[in-house]
Amino acid sequence: MRVSVVGTGYVGLVSGVCLAAKGHQVTCVDVDQTKVDKINKGIPPIYEAGLEELLQQHIGTNITATTDLRKAVMNSELSLIAVGTPFDGQEIDLKYIKLVSEQIGTVLKDKDSYHVVIVKSTVVPGTTDGVVLPILKQASGKTAGADFGVGMNPEFLKEGEAIPDFMYPDRIVLGGIDDRSIDTLGELYAMFEGVDKIRTNTKTAEMIKYTANSLLATLISFSNEIGNLCATVGVDVVEAMHGVHMDKRFTPILETGDRIIPSFTTYLAAGCGFGGSCFPKDVKALIAYGNQMGNPMSLLESVIEVNAQQPDKMIEMLKRHFPTLDGLKVAVLGMAFKPGTDDIRESPALPVTKLLLEEKAVVTSYDPIARHEAEKVFGNLVDFRDDLSEAIAQADAILIMTRWQQFQEIPALLQGRDPQPLVIDGRRMLDKTSVAKYEGIGLKS
Ligand SMILES: NC(=O)c1ccc[n+]([C@@H]2O[C@H](COP(=O)([O-])OP(=O)(O)OC[C@H]3O[C@@H](n4cnc5c(N)ncnc54)[C@H](O)[C@@H]3O)[C@@H](O)[C@H]2O)c1
Repeated sequence: MRVSVVGTGYVGLVSGVCLAAKGHQVTCVDVDQTKVDKINKGIPPIYEAGLEELLQQHIGTNITATTDLRKAVMNSELSLIAVGTPFDGQEIDLKYIKLVSEQIGTVLKDKDSYHVVIVKSTVVPGTTDGVVLPILKQASGKTAGADFGVGMNPEFLKEGEAIPDFMYPDRIVLGGIDDRSIDTLGELYAMFEGVDKIRTNTKTAEMIKYTANSLLATLISFSNEIGNLCATVGVDVVEAMHGVHMDKRFTPILETGDRIIPSFTTYLAAGCGFGGSCFPKDVKALIAYGNQMGNPMSLLESVIEVNAQQPDKMIEMLKRHFPTLDGLKVAVLGMAFKPGTDDIRESPALPVTKLLLEEKAVVTSYDPIARHEAEKVFGNLVDFRDDLSEAIAQADAILIMTRWQQFQEIPALLQGRDPQPLVIDGRRMLDKTSVAKYEGIGLKS
């Protein structure tokens, strides 16, 4: 199938490259000429494990990038819209979605054959039918259903595991305004055999995505709220949550006596808060949508409130040992919002680092991949290092902000150091007895 993918960020580029790997003819479209040039040279503008290799295998053969949306739409049967849908402080910001819909509609005016437009971006329920479709209709002067199809296909990939998530999905949601739209979208995923495919309307497809993200965010904030109480009353949240995980409804016991450990249990763990380009903005957008619909979402409001407080817990722990931060040498480990990505959007490391700088701490930092993104925010206010041991060499305190596997090396790196620095584990990833001075989220000091 000939496909155009509009927007070549984390979702658009990964989708485009994976669909090319599955045999489709893909044209990626972006307004950013630098990104387009990089992609055409086989260099992904973002980091994602395996992406560069896959891009280089297919670039120039069955995937290309361009800024020419008209040509891409004219030469394809289906367009995926994968542009950003930020939260503007009040509600979901659909300006990119509206603009691209208008641009595609204008092309459809001059296109003779049937074309399907699919929203892949995360949009609040009702957007595809109520915003995208009318714009397409107006700009093209054509009839939805007869001349063009419209659908919604939410993306569930996780940054850091995006390629395997896309190539081996757990489910594919095929939302559409009619059977023809859904069937055409189904053809795009025809080679994903044996995968559960959910055929539905666009509003349900949109709701599935928000429900999934909101539930995962809720699990995290729930764990953090419990963690904060644990810290107050002298219980270790890791032990408390372990006891909860052992419920066989969460970790079923096989006949052999072994347990299945579903990955959702990783969301039932306390830490310094969730970030990223999805959970914070999606939960906020759903709250705003609920309010607009006359259905306030009080549980989700608390999810955001609890999350907003978590980065401060790191500073509170630090101040218990060092009441003044002026001149204190602090190593912030991890800038990415999670391991495996260079995405720092809404990462808890950002407010923590800002606070440290405001209080005149001397900050060094190390992140295996996200350094270049963090430098755009902090410039030379933070001493970024390319080496973990260098970043912590002079530190009075070490704050673990991202669960990078490499940080397991910290206890060994600190051996023999005198005096020992304070280690504050925002991800509860180290053994609490492995360093001399340990503090962690959900643990009484
Ligand atoms: N990042 C994730 O892990 C993830 C996962 C699932 C769903 N989503 C959703 O997917 C959507 C995209 O997210 P992302 O993280 O890939 O965004 P992104 O910000 O990384 O990428 C968006 C891209 O769209 C381009 N763009 C903007 N306007 C354009 C236009 N008029 N024409 C062509 N290109 C244009 C930008 O230049 C940018 O490259 C969002 O709705 C997001 O919520 C993201």
